[in-house]
Amino acid sequence: MRILLFSGKGGVGKTSLSAATGTRLAELGYRTLVMSVDPAHSLADAFDLETGLFGSKTADPCQIADRLWIHEVNIQKEIKRHWQRIWSYLSTLLRTSGLNAVEAEEMAIFPGMEELSALLYVNEWYKQGRFDVVVLDCAPTGESLRFVAMPTTMKWYMQHIFPVQRGVLKAVRPIANRVAPFELPPDSYFASVKELFGRIEGIDHLLADPRVTSVRLVTNAEKMVVRETQRAFVYFSVHGMTVDQVLVNRVLPEGIGDPFFQEWHSTHARFLKEIETYFAPVPVRRVPLFRHEVLGLERIRELAAELFGPNEDPAAVVRTERPYSFRKRNGHYEVRMQAPFAAKGEVELFKKGEELVIEIGTIRRHVGLPNSMTDLAPAGARLEGGTLVVELRETL
Ligand SMILES: Nc1ncnc2c1ncn2[C@@H]1O[C@H](COP(=O)(O)OP(=O)(O)O)[C@@H](O)[C@H]1O
Ligand SMILES: [Mg+2]
Repeated sequence: MRILLFSGKGGVGKTSLSAATGTRLAELGYRTLVMSVDPAHSLADAFDLETGLFGSKTADPCQIADRLWIHEVNIQKEIKRHWQRIWSYLSTLLRTSGLNAVEAEEMAIFPGMEELSALLYVNEWYKQGRFDVVVLDCAPTGESLRFVAMPTTMKWYMQHIFPVQRGVLKAVRPIANRVAPFELPPDSYFASVKELFGRIEGIDHLLADPRVTSVRLVTNAEKMVVRETQRAFVYFSVHGMTVDQVLVNRVLPEGIGDPFFQEWHSTHARFLKEIETYFAPVPVRRVPLFRHEVLGLERIRELAAELFGPNEDPAAVVRTERPYSFRKRNGHYEVRMQAPFAAKGEVELFKKGEELVIEIGTIRRHVGLPNSMTDLAPAGARLEGGTLVVELRETL
């Protein structure tokens, strides 16, 4: 199974391009699922389906054409399916803190539940082999980063915090519940967390395997959008994911001569050039601005025809270069990571247990080191072109 993940700033065209990619894949014979992980779902709207404003028809994979399904992950439904015990504990807890029942129930939907639910599905589809390709239409950049960081964060929590918390609570619960101002989580809460974790196990490897998962960054040829795309590129690379395409959407077509658009033409020309230089060697594609909204299957097909050559396979694996690698060179070890937009001074490094922690600006990543390198400590880092090279040496 292939996973194609579309990410980018709000409104750039993620949903439209995910829909176009899914449509093309289904026409090529792949059993394709386009899955929306953006709580502000608009996938059904893009296909112009009559599902009502808050339709629940697409809360499960819903077939809309030959070999094409769409799924808009619906958190209310997912809570009933996967989160019941966790959610009911949290809402009880919040109720005791003074919130009324409805507020408490809303608050107990914590950030990330939606993403985690989507990951559960992707993992399940992978194991079942029900689809050949899953196209993920993600929420704007910030949330999609939470999505990809989730498996490693969960793993870290499960290894370091969970056993301690569970063990301690087991011991103190009988007494503590008599004196604590709120009820401590019952052991079934932990059992649920563990069970859920078990179901996303392995997903981190799928996301980091370039033959399975490719990230497609959608952008526009405008400064603010490009900046966000650059940050996203670094974030995904830091999380070990491979960006195999940058899609510049809504490029003003050449033929528009109206003086009103004069400045837009030069802005687009300038940023298109910058985008190609910035992201090289990652291929950059341009998609023109259409005369109309991309709405309904016919127009989605038109968009696909602009996006892909006549027989082009959007699921083909074109880039397998991993964003970071480990190497031994001249007697010392190196971690090499693609970070083309990082600047000196923004990078911080330290060791925590057997992990190397890399911080670039506001993001942090725990990199698990291979066995041969776990005793080493970071001795420095340099930027070589677009690559961050971290040198590790034996500690004396
Ligand atoms: N190339 C394009 N030409 C014209 N309209 C477009 C194009 N791409 C997207 N749109 C329109 O722009 C709006 C936002 O696109 P959408 O795919 O929903 O963005 P996102 O999912 O990134 O928020 C939609 O109304 C869509 O139909
Ligand atoms: Mg969208």
